[in-house]
Amino acid sequence: MSLKIIGTGRALPGRQVFNEELSAFVDTSDQWITERTGIKSRFISTAEGLTELSAAAAKAALDKAGLGPGDIDMILCATICGDYLTPSLACCVSQRLSASCPAFDVNAACSGFLYSLDVAAAYLETGRCKNILIVSAEMMSRHVDWGDRAVCVLFGDGAGAGVVTKGDALRYVRLTAAGETKTLHRKMGTGNNPFVRKQEPDEYLAMEGQEVFKFAVQSIHKEVNLALDALGLTGDGVDLFLLHQANQRILDSARAKLGQPEGKFPSNIGRYGNISAASIPILLDEVLEEGRIKAGDVVLMNAFGAGLTTATCVLKWE
Ligand code: ACO
Repeated sequence: MSLKIIGTGRALPGRQVFNEELSAFVDTSDQWITERTGIKSRFISTAEGLTELSAAAAKAALDKAGLGPGDIDMILCATICGDYLTPSLACCVSQRLSASCPAFDVNAACSGFLYSLDVAAAYLETGRCKNILIVSAEMMSRHVDWGDRAVCVLFGDGAGAGVVTKGDALRYVRLTAAGETKTLHRKMGTGNNPFVRKQEPDEYLAMEGQEVFKFAVQSIHKEVNLALDALGLTGDGVDLFLLHQANQRILDSARAKLGQPEGKFPSNIGRYGNISAASIPILLDEVLEEGRIKAGDVVLMNAFGAGLTTATCVLKWE
């Protein structure tokens, strides 16, 4: 296929919030959160904007790739919402970097980074772009109701980035979308439109936790096996599984079904919580920094999210 990842970066807000602190305003406990999710803390923005975090992650990725903003032909931001509803987060990042290439957002919820990799692959394949910057960034603290204990304890803020260029690393991509809005959504209100019969306010993020959990476990099992079959591999042929970080129990269930060792399933959910689209690129940046991926390694990435979307990519690392 058509791309390889040549630089990654990440940026987190300065404030780390531990489970115990949440008990001050919702009826929860460190024990409940840890046992049900594996989450011990998350990073929450108190002053940083999402553009700032995104630009910091982007700069780190560009530095590692040995490129400057002038070398980038396109900026894609995977996010459910940037600092502005419009312009896009990608345009805000472009302004910060003083770039001058096309820039737009991809909203596929938690699957956004992998959806963006596929969009980038298509532009690289046609030859219309040489280098593409992908930034996945979320400020989930803006979307949750901090009085809803079933949701607010799960999420965090942050940004991850990757620079991609033409190469043969990407061996498999499959994207899906059920086109479903019930189990996980954030509904916009009517604004102050004087023509509507009944004005509705914006809602917070709403989630049917157990339904999402079931969907996650089933879709990971199905999509990982489809990828392995397509490539003629078994789980043993994959060096690292980088899965969306939503719940440690979901990760453990996937690992158990595949009968693979713990070391092949890196996890950072304990420290960051669920950062939606930013989860996978942040994890990727960390494992690369730790030297856990070398040339020739097979890396399988899988994500699921609102929509209900799923995305699976397999890279043979270059
Ligand atoms: N603290 C204490 N108790 C709680 C909390 C909390 N934070 N949240 C819920 N509870 C209570 C519930 O009220 C319920 O009480 P009850 O038995 O008296 O009714 C009890 O705990 C059990 O609740 P369940 O919802 O059954 O708990 P479950 O084991 O299913 O865990 C969870 C809930 C963690 C949300 C789990 O279902 C899950 O992880 N689902 C997937 C979530 C997910 O992945 N979301 C995002 C995916 S897409 C994206 O990333 C944007």
